[in-house]
Amino acid sequence: MEKRAILLVIFGASGDLTSRKLIPALAKLEEKGVLPSEFRVVGISRTPMTDEQWREKLSSNVPMEKDTQKRAWQHLSEKIHYYAGNVTDSALFPALEQFLSEKEAAFSLPAERIYYLATAPTFYETIADGLRPVVQKNPPCRMVVEKPFGTDYETAHALNERLHEIFPEESIFRMDHYLGKETAQNILVLRFANAIFEPLWNRNYVEKVEITALETSLVGRRLGYYNQAGILRDMFQNHLLQLLTLIAMEPPTRWNADAIRNEKVKVLQSIRPMEYPYEIQQNSFLARYEGGESGLLPQTATYGKVSLFVDNWRWRGVPFQLTSGKGMNSQKTEISIHFRPAPHILFDKEYIRKAQAQDPQIRTRDWEANTLLLQIHPEAKIVLLFQSKVPDTEKDIRQTRMEFDFTENFQGELPEAYERLLLDAIHGQPDLFPRGDEIEYAWKIIDPIQRFYEGQELPRYPLFPT
Ligand code: BG6
Repeated sequence: MEKRAILLVIFGASGDLTSRKLIPALAKLEEKGVLPSEFRVVGISRTPMTDEQWREKLSSNVPMEKDTQKRAWQHLSEKIHYYAGNVTDSALFPALEQFLSEKEAAFSLPAERIYYLATAPTFYETIADGLRPVVQKNPPCRMVVEKPFGTDYETAHALNERLHEIFPEESIFRMDHYLGKETAQNILVLRFANAIFEPLWNRNYVEKVEITALETSLVGRRLGYYNQAGILRDMFQNHLLQLLTLIAMEPPTRWNADAIRNEKVKVLQSIRPMEYPYEIQQNSFLARYEGGESGLLPQTATYGKVSLFVDNWRWRGVPFQLTSGKGMNSQKTEISIHFRPAPHILFDKEYIRKAQAQDPQIRTRDWEANTLLLQIHPEAKIVLLFQSKVPDTEKDIRQTRMEFDFTENFQGELPEAYERLLLDAIHGQPDLFPRGDEIEYAWKIIDPIQRFYEGQELPRYPLFPT
């Protein structure tokens, strides 16, 4: 437990994110005993509620099967407070400041504040403005901003500028929960703490990279947001492009946030802009599921596929295929690195045909080439597909798997992304948070594609297609 006094101020206290993600993650951190020695949470929303009522409401999402979980919640809930107020009312901020100072007065160490923006994004600037006088005269503070960060390059740039008037870049933590997933964090370790992958990690040996995030769930209660955002803004601009940068970046000069982010930015800068409209049409496809929510607009994309090219010495000519969809028949977030086939196949094609006869899924190219799968969710595995001789045959060859399972190997459940990210924000550790310029470059890639499809009625696919 670190000796530190943290006041976490959550705007959007009665929202889904707070109850489903933030509070359960804090409860887990409490159970692990890694929250700072002095810690308080203050939640702010419009609904009038007492501390007790808010705690009661939050408790329904906190797992409490084990005694350790019950005890942790008991401890944490005593540190949770509620303040009712409307962020569009300028009188809120001075009164809130008074309330926060009172909570901090109970700390024995100097307080550090974290303002967490978990409201609808339309309120971000209003809240930042309201906080301006408070931030200027107050103890050290940081701000955590949930996604979506802007709706295009212009709005993201404007939001960055507005936040920078109040907070220096190093105090702004922009959330992308994919970066908090253990298996995503491991990408850089896999690449840069092992010597065997990096020599192959380039256009000479890699034929194609696929980054896929499929979900069975539908848009559901987020209909209003989704009709505005669609899948490109919801999944591609942030999560999928972030994964792409981790796969494609050069080794950073040091293991620190700025060195890593500099390399990620270079990848985004190297992505070839698609010529409008011809290349966009050729390299992307959007669709919407059939049926589903009655208010889902015909032009709202729930599925997308986009091929991007990273024009640099390492990756020139290698397609990065990004795919994401809702209402799919399986849940899967995975990166596949498809290597080029062996230069000369000694084994005659009859054996390939034999293998195909047994397993029609085997395509000749798959059979010949190796693939490295980085499975992020729900499996957390690294899998290498390679050819093996089938025992007790003359020379039958089959594609086989070499698997590494994170959960089995490290014996224990993997932490939720929000646990890691909240703890990092508490420690002021920015490595896993995209920098302002990363977000802006990512929008520059997505904006033209989004513009091309804007207002178009999209082709339909059946729910849970096989
Ligand atoms: C969120 C998107 O950022 O990520 C959701 O807004 C999506 O639409 C979710 O469902 C997927 O996250 P995960 O961790 O379940 O893959």
